[in-house]
Amino acid sequence: MASSEKALGGKVAMVTGASSGMGRLIALSLAAHGAKVVCCDLAEAANPAGYERDLDVPTASLIARRGGSAIFCRVDISDASQAERAFSSAAAEFSRLDMLVNCAGCWAPFRLFAEEDEGLWERMASVNTLGTARMCRLAVRQFLRQDYDAGSAWGSRGRIVNISSCAGGFGFPGEAAYSATKASVNHLTRAAALDHAKDGINVNCVAPGVVATGMSRVNLEDDAVRGLMEKATPWPRLGNAEDVAGPVVFFCLNEAKWVTGQVLGVDGGMTIGVAPPR
Ligand SMILES: NC(=O)c1ccc[n+]([C@@H]2O[C@H](COP(=O)([O-])OP(=O)(O)OC[C@H]3O[C@@H](n4cnc5c(N)ncnc54)[C@H](O)[C@@H]3O)[C@@H](O)[C@H]2O)c1
Repeated sequence: MASSEKALGGKVAMVTGASSGMGRLIALSLAAHGAKVVCCDLAEAANPAGYERDLDVPTASLIARRGGSAIFCRVDISDASQAERAFSSAAAEFSRLDMLVNCAGCWAPFRLFAEEDEGLWERMASVNTLGTARMCRLAVRQFLRQDYDAGSAWGSRGRIVNISSCAGGFGFPGEAAYSATKASVNHLTRAAALDHAKDGINVNCVAPGVVATGMSRVNLEDDAVRGLMEKATPWPRLGNAEDVAGPVVFFCLNEAKWVTGQVLGVDGGMTIGVAPPR
C-alpha cells in the first residue's frame, strides 16, 4: 500500500527516546502506518541491553529500510536549546508536525526513599517532568502555527501521547522519585489537554506496566524482583514494547480524535487491584 493511503499517510510524528525500547517500537509502528518520523534521542544507537530485534540498526535507518521516511535528531530533552533545535529540524525536514510521542525517560535502580538524594530527584525531574513538559509545550506552539481542518477525517490540529508509568498511578516500592515524576506526567497530560481542547489538540498518556527493555533488564534478570513483578501482574506474562506501541498508535488514529486528557494503563492488569494467586 502506498504510504499516502495508510492511516497516518502524510502526517509527521516526533518520537523522543526513539532509539531504544518502547520509543523505537512506537516510531516503527507510526512509520508502518504511513507517518514520517523525527526520531529523537541522546544517541542514534540503541541501548545494547535492549531486547529488540535488529538492535544494531538505528531506528531511522530501519524505517528507511522498510520504505518509510525518518530522520534522527540528537536531543537531550532536559536541555531547552536542544529541544528547540529538534522542532526546528522537524520543520526544516518535513515542514510540519502532527504528533509528538514523549517516550524519553530515566529511571534508577530501586532504593528506599531515605536513600534517595537531591541529585537523583533533580535528574528525574529534569528529564521526566521538565523535559516532557518542555516537549509538549513546544509541540503545542508548533501545532498552533499550522492550519487546522476541524472537519477532516483526522479531525485534530495535533496529537500528543506521553508515556508515564504504572508507578505514576499507584505505589511501587523503591522508586519514590521516579514515581513522583511519572505522576506529574499523568497530571500534565490532563491539564494540558484541558487548556488546548479548544484548539483541537489531543493530549493523552499511556502508563506502561513492566515491559522488557534495556531499562528494565536489570530487574528482569533479578529473580526476586522479577518474581515480585510477575506476582503483581495478573496477565500470564510481563509486557514487551509491541504491547505498548499499539495503544500509542491508537491515540494517533482518526478513531481517537475525540479522546483527550486520558491516562491509559497498559500493564497486564497490574493497577486494577491485588492480583489473585496464579
Ligand atoms: N521498561 C519498563 O518497564 C517501563 C515501565 C513503565 C514506564 N517506562 C517508561 O517508558 C519509557 C521508555 O522506556 P524504555 O523502557 O523503552 O527504556 P529504554 O532505555 O529502552 O529507552 C529509553 C530511551 O530514552 C532515551 N533517553 C533517556 N533520557 C533521554 C533524554 N534526556 N533525552 C532524550 N532521550 C533520552 C534513552 O537514550 C533511550 O533510548 C520511559 O519514559 C520509561 O520511564 C518503562
